[in-house]
Amino acid sequence: MLAERARGQRIGFVPTMGFLHDGHTTLMKVAREACDLVAVSIFVNPKQFGPKEDLSRYPRDKEGDLRKCRDAGVSIVFMPEPEAFYPPLFETMVSVAKTSQGFCGAARPGHFDGVTTVVLKLFNLAQPHEAFFGEKDFQQLAVIRAMVRDLSLPITVTGVPTVREPDGLALSSRNVYLSSEERHDALVLRRALEAMKTGVESGERSAKAITELARAEIAGVERARVDYVEVADALTLAQRETIDGPTQALLAVFIGRTRLIDNLRIL
Ligand code: PAF
Repeated sequence: MLAERARGQRIGFVPTMGFLHDGHTTLMKVAREACDLVAVSIFVNPKQFGPKEDLSRYPRDKEGDLRKCRDAGVSIVFMPEPEAFYPPLFETMVSVAKTSQGFCGAARPGHFDGVTTVVLKLFNLAQPHEAFFGEKDFQQLAVIRAMVRDLSLPITVTGVPTVREPDGLALSSRNVYLSSEERHDALVLRRALEAMKTGVESGERSAKAITELARAEIAGVERARVDYVEVADALTLAQRETIDGPTQALLAVFIGRTRLIDNLRIL
């Protein structure tokens, strides 16, 4: 892509782990509008999965993914093999100390180090002007912004709003794990977020009281189990006790064995 850069073309980059859905193709379309050429990576990154996580059963669909990339006007698809991407001597990890803590970072130790390591390596290979990430992974977006800021990377990071099913479920590759009953139960994530937003709109400012509203909603669904429910500064992700500025509600909930995340701006 260096030749394209030299010709003055603006390179957009969308890193993914494949099994692409409308959330990913939306990122590609937004990238296509902002850039002259779009590159996509498809790589199920082993370094961001914990030992007990779903790396081996993570869904894959190479042919479908390539077709979706073509339809979305993507010029280059990079699909490395793990052994070539991380050769035996590979030993460097990138760690964003503070923003990686809490939320998904607490539940998945080492996860964000795996994300920042792969994303920095992909940035170096793709050399994009602009990279596109979904806001559904809100903490991931904040962690990558922090890495780009701290390491002075010459890349614009653009967050793209979450794409949802008509009934409000955020699109995720992991939704494929849900049985039809669990698919129905999964709507509790959206309801819990809406309950927090409504609570704030009615004047409640205590973070504890607001998160209790979500917990009560989730407790009403037998197959749902809270991993975390938090409210945080929408820019820094610092946890809030009082909701008195731009605030994001974030949650992770197990529906059966499947862990789903979602978030919503509540103030
Ligand atoms: O969001 C994802 O799919 C992954 O975390 C990413 C950014 C592609 C890194 O592997």
